[in-house]
Amino acid sequence: MNSIAQQLKARFEKAFTAAFGESYAGADPMLAAASNPNFGDFQCNAAMSLGKKLGKPPRAIASTIIENLDISDICETPEIAGPGFINLKLKPAYLEAQISAIAADSRLGIESAKTPQTIAIDFSSPNIAKEMHVGHLRSTIIGDAIARTLEFQGHDVLRINHIGDWGTQFGMLIAYLREVHPEALTTADALDLGDLVAFYRQAKQRFDTDETFKETARQEVVKLQAGAEDTRHAWKLLCDQSRREFQVIYDLLDIKLTERGESFYNPLLPAVVEDLTNLGLLVESDGAKCVFVDGFTNKEGEPLPLIVQKTDGGYNYATTDLAAVRYRIQKDNAKRLIYVTDSGQANHFAQVFAVARKAGWIPEDVEIVHVPFGLVLGEDGKRAKTRSGDTVRLRDLLDEAIVRATKDLEDRLVTEERHETKEFIANVGRVVGLSAVKYADLSQNRASNYVFSYDKMLALQGNTAPYMLYAYARVQGIRRKGEIDFENLDAGAKVILQSDAELVLAKHLLQFNEVINAVEGDLLPNRICQYLFELSQKYNQFFEQCQVLKSEEPLRTSRLILCDLTARTLKLGLELLGIKVLERM
Ligand code: ARG
Repeated sequence: MNSIAQQLKARFEKAFTAAFGESYAGADPMLAAASNPNFGDFQCNAAMSLGKKLGKPPRAIASTIIENLDISDICETPEIAGPGFINLKLKPAYLEAQISAIAADSRLGIESAKTPQTIAIDFSSPNIAKEMHVGHLRSTIIGDAIARTLEFQGHDVLRINHIGDWGTQFGMLIAYLREVHPEALTTADALDLGDLVAFYRQAKQRFDTDETFKETARQEVVKLQAGAEDTRHAWKLLCDQSRREFQVIYDLLDIKLTERGESFYNPLLPAVVEDLTNLGLLVESDGAKCVFVDGFTNKEGEPLPLIVQKTDGGYNYATTDLAAVRYRIQKDNAKRLIYVTDSGQANHFAQVFAVARKAGWIPEDVEIVHVPFGLVLGEDGKRAKTRSGDTVRLRDLLDEAIVRATKDLEDRLVTEERHETKEFIANVGRVVGLSAVKYADLSQNRASNYVFSYDKMLALQGNTAPYMLYAYARVQGIRRKGEIDFENLDAGAKVILQSDAELVLAKHLLQFNEVINAVEGDLLPNRICQYLFELSQKYNQFFEQCQVLKSEEPLRTSRLILCDLTARTLKLGLELLGIKVLERM
């Protein structure tokens, strides 16, 4: 379905042609939400700029536009205000018909993409033998919400986990484990990730201080790259160990990813360097092979190269990303490449994209974007840390959210004198806790840092997951109380919008498709949160001001339709954020 703004725009374009001739057909009607709801719903600001072009007073232009505007099925008679604004007020009958139409549609009036694309989203992407940290959590949550939204629009989304599973660190780790814990390299499950992270630290220390060890570690890297069986096997065991640990988090958060780690691109790296050489883009600098692109400088203002092959012949993070760009475009046929990482990597991606572009690897019809996000801060405003100063383990962080949500629920049950089964409490606590973490992250503009606060994210009031889930559960409460069969309600029943609260709610419900379209473009899931928050507020006002179950027919059914449509919108919106609704909580 076209959004209201799109429908209005089409009418204005017709009016411009009729009033000023073909050449004005594409003039922008400059439609905006009314600055003051007393003036109506929309305002057209085009008369001012058209007046300049046509050399006539804007108010006269505005009247000419109105004379040619055929809009009576959508709006009341337009009014001219001030220097030449045209104010538009939507007719209740029009809103009623629109609401009926979206209520009858399982997609709630949201169109699928006209040209579905293959879209590669690179997100989560933690590193083997290291702890998954809050940065990876943000990437996971934001990437998943973007993926879900684009999938809903009908795009073919590749959810790529670009795991850090390759590089010199494995030589170091394997060499160290051979010494201190050899069974870890031959037996599955001999270590857990906590041990692995500690061994990694110790190995690094050895590597930095012991020349002989350094050499052994280098030899392990050579063996790994050459495919020596025992080293490969050891490497695979280490990866499996970490992978299992990551999977626990993904299962908890209901995240689907396809692993395609750095090692996947290993065979493709020599060709990247070779092709750059043939293109004449490679420069040797201190023995390293580099590409210089305009616009990148270091702190001293000197040109900053992108290194693609180190002095020792090894490839690096950037080489792998160049290979991945090519693979996603050539083999996956992706038309949009999205990378979700912290903003600290903005320069890396800008440089990789610039080199790929200079090499001619990014065709005109392919879009490549970095989707950066800010830091997670502790309540003291500093980078989130545990009391002992370590980075917070994700498992602990999520578990804590669940424990607190469960406790909140138990307290509420006591106050409300309710008795629920253990299973109910465990399930609600889990869903609310995890949703709260996701929602707290997604509701911020991703570019900003945000303060991680259990108290804020678990609050029943405000722009939080519990508030949203509660609004949904409240509608389901009405369904149970009135024994309403929502599924069979919508067919044929008339929607009646009389009171202000109903009109306000209906107008908001009709804006969801615009929000989803905007997110498709700018990849800002916080738009969905903001929309849902306002929806819950408007629904609550409606619910306070309008009787639902006790009102007379046909108003009763009409109001039930509004309740159901609100719930379905909440459910869909939350689903796009990776949050499951609860029928009761
Ligand atoms: N493993 C990297 C890290 O932990 C993130 C990888 C992001 N994706 C990419 N294609 N570089 O920082």
